[in-house]
Amino acid sequence: FEFARKDVNLQEKLPTKLLRDLHSNFILQYERDKNGYHYIMAEHLRVSGIYWCANAMDLTKQLSQMSADEIVQYVLSCRNSDGGYGPAPGHDSHLLHTLCAVQTLIIFDSLQKADSNSICDYVKKLQNEDGSFCGDLSGEVDTRFTLCSLATCHLLGNLSTLNIDTAVNFLLRCYNSDGGFGTRPGSESHAGQVYCCVGALAIAGRLDSISRDRTAEWLAFRQCDSGGLNGRPEKLPDVCYSWWVLASLAILGRLDFIDQSAMKKFIYACQDDETGGFADRPGDCADPFHTVFGIAALSLFGDDSLEQVDPIFCMSKKCLGSKQIEMF
Ligand code: FPP
Ligand code: ZN
Repeated sequence: FEFARKDVNLQEKLPTKLLRDLHSNFILQYERDKNGYHYIMAEHLRVSGIYWCANAMDLTKQLSQMSADEIVQYVLSCRNSDGGYGPAPGHDSHLLHTLCAVQTLIIFDSLQKADSNSICDYVKKLQNEDGSFCGDLSGEVDTRFTLCSLATCHLLGNLSTLNIDTAVNFLLRCYNSDGGFGTRPGSESHAGQVYCCVGALAIAGRLDSISRDRTAEWLAFRQCDSGGLNGRPEKLPDVCYSWWVLASLAILGRLDFIDQSAMKKFIYACQDDETGGFADRPGDCADPFHTVFGIAALSLFGDDSLEQVDPIFCMSKKCLGSKQIEMF
């Protein structure tokens, strides 16, 4: 007896190759339309949105089409007196936006315009006694914030300002017997959380603390018949999980655990061949978030029309230069 897994059908008329230049146009359009509904709605995640757009333009080799100075000035204006960055000027600092601010400044080769020490001080204050991190002053703990913290301080060249031993101990308490990781100890495994924990362990140089094969097997089970990947058992495939899962497998050195050609077919099918951009799944509405992660996933498979992406930081290897982590 075969039980029906949740999945989507790939119809014949869907795109079967990368429509690269449509995507850079989609991003530019989105970015320029500053009075548009979507742009206003996205104020609570504006700096993250800027990183998604800038990264998509960099990975499609079209970064020079963006207004670098204007974007850098905007990002710098989101800095608060606590050293962290909020999503928009006047909004409270949050680790998610602080990492995205640092990533965006690196993409535009402007990191020297930020005050590294005060950013690292901000991050350090969010680490708890048990090694975990809060995302902001609200006190929410999540393994996502461990990746944000380690990535931010590594990119600023000051990882040792954090307590890496307790941070790793906390991550290992979130490691489940099925090979996945959750948000906190005892939480169910989730592919986004696996990405965060595997990435953070790689930055800490502690990937040897887990079973790479067991984790890679849990990740490989995320592949559905359509070729797409889901985030947890019994969920629909979604193109952003192509990134969370694939990048995790790349960090673990286990990209061969999934069917790459089926996966590419699914990612291609998520493109909108009229407006450009990628949707979460075929036929849905395209957005910058799914666009950057669709492009980044295709870059991991190797595509000459794209910049090579780094699986830990989700940025081009070119812009990271010596900030890349030696993994094997
Ligand atoms: C699912 O979110 C995705 C995650 C939990 C991963 C989020 C990852 C980060 C914040 C780190 C980003 C860092 C880099 C370097 C790119 P969801 O809340 O949409 O989950 P759902 O699909 O279950 O709703
Ligand atoms: Zn998604």
